[in-house]
Amino acid sequence: MLQKFNDLNKDLIVNINGKLVHRDQAGVSPFDSVVQGGDAVWEGLRLYKGRIFRLYMHLDRLADSARALAFAEIPSHEHIVSEIRKTLEANQMTDSVHLRLTLTRGVKYTSGMDPRLNTKGPTLIILAEHKAPVYDKSGIKLITSTFRRPTGEVLDPRIHHNNLLNSILAKIQANAAGADDALMLDSRGFIAETNATHVFFVRGNEIMTPFTHACPEGITRGAVLDLCAQHRIPYEIRDISIAEAYRADEMFCTGTMGEIAPVLELDGRKIGAGNSGPVTLDLCDLFKRMVEREGDKVL
Ligand SMILES: Cc1ncc(COP(=O)(O)O)c(C=O)c1O
Repeated sequence: MLQKFNDLNKDLIVNINGKLVHRDQAGVSPFDSVVQGGDAVWEGLRLYKGRIFRLYMHLDRLADSARALAFAEIPSHEHIVSEIRKTLEANQMTDSVHLRLTLTRGVKYTSGMDPRLNTKGPTLIILAEHKAPVYDKSGIKLITSTFRRPTGEVLDPRIHHNNLLNSILAKIQANAAGADDALMLDSRGFIAETNATHVFFVRGNEIMTPFTHACPEGITRGAVLDLCAQHRIPYEIRDISIAEAYRADEMFCTGTMGEIAPVLELDGRKIGAGNSGPVTLDLCDLFKRMVEREGDKVL
């Protein structure tokens, strides 16, 4: 899965600390904490017809992550929402937009990792792009990465931080293998998630998804679990081994960037019948209706 350049995005206006700048002129200081040490937190959001799906859950996760990293200052939800609105209006965007919010610890007076070097902060970057869900809705192919997802004893996945190298190494393996993405295991060998999404499995009438010990508490994952509860679809959250994945009838992945995408192949093995299964298709349909109904109005 290689995203293509969308011509609609060639003159994007980006918001950096409230200043609206053309994408080619936008820049952050070389002294910014995100450049110095990836010292930042981020969120991906999606705009549907003037509404952002689960906006306040994303803003809570951003603020909670910044609090865990002891940022001296965290912008209020109201401030971020008004900057989002300003950015969308500057780009005349109303629908099918992906937004990436980045909040860094701010600018340092000299290079180094010590947060005491920060005298100006934080830096809030809002990048809004015209972007349809990135995965092929007819299905994707995964391989299992040799890189493991860390649990809380290494770096707590409850912190949604900008240190994405663990995922990027797995993605490089997927690219080399001609796969769309890579499945990642936790340090015990159970499935955690992919390099960018959460995963679900269907076997018989059981839906399963792994615990979130070694992955973020996904907002799309949470929405799928809410749909299961609302529609009395039984599910279980538990440790899932790779052999269980191979014998699943259906597998799909979830995330804001790609919504829900069926997984049709894992490590050269066909999953189920090798096409999108009925449970996945039903959940895609329910999710589509949910995002239209439940988004927080920003425009
Ligand atoms: C590592 C990782 N896994 C999964 C996801 C998907 O989570 P969400 O549904 O909240 O977009 C994300 C999104 O930020 C992520 O960074």
